Amino acid sequence: MLDLLYDRRSIRKYSPAAIEKDKIQNLVKAALLAPSGRGIQPQRFIIVEDHDLLQKLSLAREHGSAFLSGAPLCIVVLADSSLTDVWTEDASIAAIIIQLAAKSMGLGSCWVQVRNRNQSEGKTTEEYIQEVLNIPQGLKVECMIGLGYPAEQKLRRTEQDLQYQNIFVNQYGTEFLNKY
Ligand SMILES: Cc1cc2nc3c(=O)[nH]c(=O)nc-3n(C[C@H](O)[C@H](O)[C@H](O)COP(=O)(O)O)c2cc1C
Repeated sequence: MLDLLYDRRSIRKYSPAAIEKDKIQNLVKAALLAPSGRGIQPQRFIIVEDHDLLQKLSLAREHGSAFLSGAPLCIVVLADSSLTDVWTEDASIAAIIIQLAAKSMGLGSCWVQVRNRNQSEGKTTEEYIQEVLNIPQGLKVECMIGLGYPAEQKLRRTEQDLQYQNIFVNQYGTEFLNKY
């Protein structure tokens, strides 16, 4: 697991190769295995593989979503906020589990932030995606995960990247590295 975490990086350039059906099925299994508060499972997912739709989704943000136009697949992570007040946590956990499962299958991925972002003046990114994908109003859009076989190399994380100054023991201020 740690090896996978050191190696996981956001991948925004993808080879044109399609993702195999069994890998898409496994991504869906990973999404459905994600934990949720009280086991409510408010998460909903849309698997987008249609090129025209991916093109449209790439315009969901002024900056930060353009790479989706070159992705063979995108998973839109939604949640029914009427079911639970921790839907953002539930949706986020499912999203990162999808990304880690993708990495474990040799796929690259990158998160596109949707919640609290705007597509253009007067329209939120969420409203834009709801229109493009015909999503009912009550469903919140947390993020979109672009996926595909990597066409860019990113450096693996090293020990030097680990910001131990953010870790404390027992009380805030007691530095982890002084104790371990
Ligand atoms: C909550 C969250 C929102 C993000 N939003 C975007 C985004 O909108 N567009 C994008 O290209 N990358 C986005 N990213 C990817 C981050 O930029 C990336 O994870 C960060 O720079 C660290 O790089 P790494 O993933 O390669 O370790 C997001 C990541 C997270 C966790």
